Amino acid sequence: MLSSQGDSAKRKSLHGHWSSRMAFVLAVTGSAVGLGNIWKFPYIAGQNGGGAFVLVYLVCVIVIGMPVMMSEILIGRRGRRNPIATMELLGKEEGSSANWRWVGIMGVFAGILILSYYSVIAGWTLAYVVKSVSGVFAGASAAAVGTEFDNFVGDWRLIGLSHTIFMALTIFVVARGVERGLEQAVRFMVPALLVLMLVLLGYSINSGYFGEGVAFMFTPDFTKLTWNSVLAALGQAFFTLSIGMGAVMAYGAYLPEETSITGASVAVVGADTAIAILAGLAIFPLVFANNLDPADGPGLVFFTLPLAFGQMAGGVFFSTVFFVLLAFAAWTSAIGLMEPAVAWIVERFNRTRAQAAVMTGLLIWFLGFGSVLSFNVLAEFKFLAGTIFDNVDYLTSNIFLPLGGLLIVVFAGWVMCRNSTSDELGSSGTWYRAWRFLARFVAPIGILFVLASAIL
Ligand code: PFF
Repeated sequence: MLSSQGDSAKRKSLHGHWSSRMAFVLAVTGSAVGLGNIWKFPYIAGQNGGGAFVLVYLVCVIVIGMPVMMSEILIGRRGRRNPIATMELLGKEEGSSANWRWVGIMGVFAGILILSYYSVIAGWTLAYVVKSVSGVFAGASAAAVGTEFDNFVGDWRLIGLSHTIFMALTIFVVARGVERGLEQAVRFMVPALLVLMLVLLGYSINSGYFGEGVAFMFTPDFTKLTWNSVLAALGQAFFTLSIGMGAVMAYGAYLPEETSITGASVAVVGADTAIAILAGLAIFPLVFANNLDPADGPGLVFFTLPLAFGQMAGGVFFSTVFFVLLAFAAWTSAIGLMEPAVAWIVERFNRTRAQAAVMTGLLIWFLGFGSVLSFNVLAEFKFLAGTIFDNVDYLTSNIFLPLGGLLIVVFAGWVMCRNSTSDELGSSGTWYRAWRFLARFVAPIGILFVLASAIL
């Protein structure tokens, strides 16, 4: 069915609009760049053998991540509502079914689950700001840094407290709304983070083990690659780009009509990938220089970086700034994780943003204790993928996000008519054709194939 351009052009978001294209790009970049790039990417690459994983991840980002990102933005801008209502509205408008709302519902749910553990790790970065300022790491040995980490995460009250503080900060920004809250937080964070990553990279290059780090990241050894690591690479591509769960769709709803979706997507994907690769290049040489194990898991950056900073001139300062920036990066991502749920509650139940943020935030805070306890009291309580934390992470990154992404590209590529998508993306040109080919064939087949191979 043809949908009229008139309807969608008249639609306005209830939550206001971004003040400029730059504001949108910054906000989506702020949501994309987070713990996923600096905390998760290195340890997952480490656990999955390095080079081959990194290569698969890059392929996933380009041939699957890019078209999903563009599809999410275009759907969001066309619907101009929360992801559930947008999918329902467009499902009907495009002559399909209101049941497409389930994509939005799954996204809201995924965001809540992801934030429940994301906030716990973000809390660690807050605590590491305090530890850095107080000079705990100055000149510390590898063993001392390791013990510091083990003692910290071993105490559920400490990490429960930092999780609580982080959730309070997130609720605060989300409650303030699109322009006042979201934009201001990201304006300086991404550039500052980039500068600090370069400082770390400089240190890493001089560590004497840069060659080993580069070889580990870029020499693919395909014998180490299982279908499960391919799925992990796909999941990481979705996680790091914040796609597959409606966050980018929710942000797209506030995007002005004239902004180029393709341009914005290229900028976001480029910045996000660059920061992940920089983080890997900074971290792996330090891992090898200090005889650590790249497969060490979620503690990896919390051992390597404090250790490196502890040995640098001005280390107390750099370490503090680094963890402050990482906390900021996590903060701007956490906002994106809450946005679909909050936008939905505001529109559906007529609540204020503040009420919706507090309600959603309290639920997430409570669920977060499953992950808090996974590092101490319930560390031995393992099922399926491991601890509660491991399971929530596996389920969301490796199942919900790819599945959400699959449905989103199928919707944009097959259900929406050509006129609607070309209205949003610009009708002619190589970019449109490339997007449509990737969205209709490459991305859906790729996602299905990887999901099926890893799970069946
Ligand atoms: N992309 C974020 C990161 O890499 O840390 C995580 C994330 C944020 C995922 C927002 C999903 C989302 F909606």
